[in-house]
Amino acid sequence: MAREQFGICAEPNLHGTYLLFNALDDKNAFIRQALSRIPAMLDHYADQFSEANLSGVIAIGANYWDELCPEGRPKHLTSFPTMQSDDRIAPATSGDIYVEVRSDRSDVNHIVSTKIMEFLADSVELIEQTRAFRYLDGRDLTGFVDGTENPQGKNRRTVALVNEEDDPEFAAGSYLHIQRYRHNMKLWNMLKEKAQEDIFGRTKVDNVEYASEDKPLTAHTKRTSLKDDDGKSIEILRQSMPYGDMKVQGLFFVSYCHSPEPFTLMLKSMIQGDGEGHFDHMLKYTEAQTGVAFFAPSLNFLKSLADN
Ligand code: HEM
Repeated sequence: MAREQFGICAEPNLHGTYLLFNALDDKNAFIRQALSRIPAMLDHYADQFSEANLSGVIAIGANYWDELCPEGRPKHLTSFPTMQSDDRIAPATSGDIYVEVRSDRSDVNHIVSTKIMEFLADSVELIEQTRAFRYLDGRDLTGFVDGTENPQGKNRRTVALVNEEDDPEFAAGSYLHIQRYRHNMKLWNMLKEKAQEDIFGRTKVDNVEYASEDKPLTAHTKRTSLKDDDGKSIEILRQSMPYGDMKVQGLFFVSYCHSPEPFTLMLKSMIQGDGEGHFDHMLKYTEAQTGVAFFAPSLNFLKSLADN
């Protein structure tokens, strides 16, 4: 049975490094070899620094997949669903390879990221590197706890991983969407606490969900808690982390799912709203600067990349 990459369902960590690469021409054979070796390297450092809870994810861009893996494509893999409504945008940006390194030690993340750069060498161009961190008790920089309603326990795997029956060749893989959001902290901090709470539909300090009838239709949690035709919750597994320095601050948003559809539906509900003018008011205070769709294949699939 195929095994998933351990970073997909891992619990939150203190530090994250997100690396985004473009593949250079004629380097596909080299890249296949390099990617197939990364999981063993991660295992090695996870053993060496066992207290650091190191895990990683390697994912291949939707627009690069066919070039790197012409033998077959995950059934539902599509480009990032770019959207716009008024001044609310979700741009699609470039990215052939994604590497996520997370642990509770930033020095360990640095060591592992350095190794990844060595493995990929001059086969890629590093487009961006984002170093992210846990903020207080798992909060976004807006001050609200992020991740509370994430699936828990066994349900994390059900939500995040491709099911054997759905797509046997790509079982235990995961559809990944990333967006780097930049917050307007100055504007956000001008809001009174109650106005901020109305935007998330949760209280700030003690993180209590509003009663359904008290949640504005424009609240982030209202716009993103969707149900399917059978009344079942539509879910994603978020592994986002805050990033920032004294110039820019925001959230590196990361969504894993057994299908790309839930993320797309949620983003649509945030940006385009409910058709009656209720869009996500969080988007007045933050803006997506990037957006890329990937597939994070199983460990078995990654290993097999070296064979062809
Ligand atoms: C700057 C970007 C974002 C920020 C700061 C943010 C922050 C938050 C916070 C504070 C919560 C409430 C606590 C929780 O359950 O985690 C939340 C919930 C949630 N967010 Fe976001 N989020 C962002 C973007 C997104 C995007 C792009 C999506 C999906 C397309 C999304 C999907 C969700 C979902 C599904 C929930 C749980 C809703 C519920 O069931 O109550 N978020 N987010």
